[in-house]
Amino acid sequence: MKNVSAVILAAGKGTRMKSGLIKVMHPAAGRPMIAWPVDAARAAGAEPIVLVVGHQADSVRAAFRESDDIRCAMQEEQLGTGHAVACARNELSGFKGTVLILCGDTPLLTVATLKGLIASHRANGAVLTVLTAMMDNPQGYGRVVRDDSGRVLRIVEQKDATPEEQSIREINSGIYCVESDFLFANIGLIGSDNAQQEFYLTDLLLIAVSQGLTCLGICTGDSAEIMGVNDRAQLAEAARILRRRINYGLMCSGVSLVDPEQTYIDQGVLIGPDTTIHPTCSISGSTVIGSGCTIECGVSIDDCRIGDGCHIKAGSVLEGSELHGAVAVGPMAHLRPGTVLHDHVKIGNFVETKKIVMGEGSKASHLTYLGDAEIGCNVNIGCGTITCNYDGVNKHRTVIGDDVFIGSDVQLVAPVTVGRNSLVAAGTTVTADVPPDSLAISRVSQVNKEGWRLKKR
Ligand code: UD1
Ligand code: CA
Repeated sequence: MKNVSAVILAAGKGTRMKSGLIKVMHPAAGRPMIAWPVDAARAAGAEPIVLVVGHQADSVRAAFRESDDIRCAMQEEQLGTGHAVACARNELSGFKGTVLILCGDTPLLTVATLKGLIASHRANGAVLTVLTAMMDNPQGYGRVVRDDSGRVLRIVEQKDATPEEQSIREINSGIYCVESDFLFANIGLIGSDNAQQEFYLTDLLLIAVSQGLTCLGICTGDSAEIMGVNDRAQLAEAARILRRRINYGLMCSGVSLVDPEQTYIDQGVLIGPDTTIHPTCSISGSTVIGSGCTIECGVSIDDCRIGDGCHIKAGSVLEGSELHGAVAVGPMAHLRPGTVLHDHVKIGNFVETKKIVMGEGSKASHLTYLGDAEIGCNVNIGCGTITCNYDGVNKHRTVIGDDVFIGSDVQLVAPVTVGRNSLVAAGTTVTADVPPDSLAISRVSQVNKEGWRLKKR
């Protein structure tokens, strides 16, 4: 939609979160709560989007540093919602049109609702339109007072409401459309003569009505959408609904979720069709997963690229890694950042990797640490292999050529190179480079002292 901008209120601390972090920066389904209304406003065409910040303003600024369409306006003291919107005036000085006013703590608001609100507001030539909802329990919200013909007259806050007004079930969602000319000509008229001694934005409605201007109250069909998060229980509830939407979208695009209620996938994660995700997985960040993969229970994947046909077995943790096609990982493997596994690589249980490249068809099936290593194709890494990459001061690299066989319980003391097609015998500590096509063995030969145990007795 054209000629739309947005003001999103986010200066408050959010005392009921009982947190050192301001409310709007608490994550909901993997991103700060405020990123959700920002997205909805942007998708409705709003530009610029002005965030009114106060408490921990720097953390909000930092979160949106890279968004050109977002500006921040400082509200030093939280004197009320009307005062907060007035603080956005300078940032909107060049703008003429419809201003959406939203709160940073309503992550469930959808773009469809915003577009519908703007369309009704414009179709009716209103100067101010408020989104309302019917609540069985309206406690705490501002109530919408209408006249006998149903026209909105004013909004009265819980603390200022008469018992009769408190029985009204239609509440103010705190979401508005206002024409910019009207908004900035009148916002200075709002006073603070009320129970909370605050500048109430809601008084703008009374001002418009008293000027004989058209105001609308549009009641949403889905009162869950306008839910404001005030405490951690409500945050968990909102996050659950967000995840449900994300999961539904994935299922519609061909991803199988064995139990969507117990699958935690962040917004922005991409997953190909015919991939199956078992319960209690958590998939986050910039992760992209191909098609035909199986992700078993309890897997955690962050910032990874995973190709087609991969199998990630139960309890594995993958971070910042790149897996090509048909790679098998786990159960209980840990791929740390910088791990690159080419086609058909197999990483087995209790294997940890960090900053390694493993060529096609190579395997490390059991109990191994591979760090700072370059491993060729068709390499077999035996059980209990360790790349000793750290000398207490610096990290060093291990290079293993194609077709190498590393026996069990081998330590590779880096920097060291094992040439292609060599065999390192079980129990060997490799401290010098191994030429290609060789056998490397460093073992004390075995001595059998017969009858030794009998003599001891
Ligand atoms: C407000 C509405 C109420 C509505 C409710 C919906 C007013 C006077 N009341 O009440 O009618 O039913 O929202 O949730 O507007 N904020 C600032 N600066 C301030 C004050 C608030 O940025 O000086 C921000 C808060 O951080 C919050 C939002 O504005 O994100 C709403 O403020 P809050 O104090 O929670 O308003 P309510 O009392 O809930
Ligand atoms: Ca509130």
